[in-house]
Amino acid sequence: MRKLKLGVMISGSGTNLQALIDACVQKDYPAQIAVVISNRPGAKGLERAKDAGIDAICVDHTTYDDRASFEDAIHQCLKDHDVGLVCLAGFMRILNADFVNRWKDRMINIHPSLLPSYKGLHTHARAIEDGVRFGGCTIHFVRPEMDDGPIIMQAAVPISEAETEDSLAAKILHYEHEMYPTAVRLIAEGNVRVSARKCVFKDIDLDTAGLISPAIK
Ligand code: GRF
Repeated sequence: MRKLKLGVMISGSGTNLQALIDACVQKDYPAQIAVVISNRPGAKGLERAKDAGIDAICVDHTTYDDRASFEDAIHQCLKDHDVGLVCLAGFMRILNADFVNRWKDRMINIHPSLLPSYKGLHTHARAIEDGVRFGGCTIHFVRPEMDDGPIIMQAAVPISEAETEDSLAAKILHYEHEMYPTAVRLIAEGNVRVSARKCVFKDIDLDTAGLISPAIK
């Protein structure tokens, strides 16, 4: 089986990276991680990659004169590793339109909210503050606008009365780890493609059950 080569970009802990590492060790998984790139030298995700025997490279943004040269270095590194799909997994730098367009429909991101609600930071705190009944996470193809682009998968998680930012983050992270390898599989097996502003799917049952919160007795 020819496997899709992933370039995973991180800035921190890398638990989503770990979920991808764990999926990629399965023999029948249709993707493999070719390189992990962090913009932060101390990112725990770099250790996770090294422990798994994956090329782990730090492209430290503070050592570049400007964003364009930093992104050129990342682009070169992805090219050198023959990457076919870039997976942003907690990568905390804004990317210029030039870079994003070079990877159009070949770069995905995971964001901890039900997009297009709650773009940006502190998504869980803002959702709790607003009293919305569901939080969640989204995997989407990347477009130059922040947290924008055709949506591949979403998970919705009910927000309880006693919810805190940390408890909601933990609940949602669980679904992030389930979804990221699944979204990559969809792409690697050619079961999702972009059509205008949306994703269209092949051989996938999109008719999942609805959720109501609070539950109706
Ligand atoms: C996740 O919450 C993800 O949705 C967001 O950044 C966080 C990364 O966590 N983009 P980790 O580094 O994968 O643990």
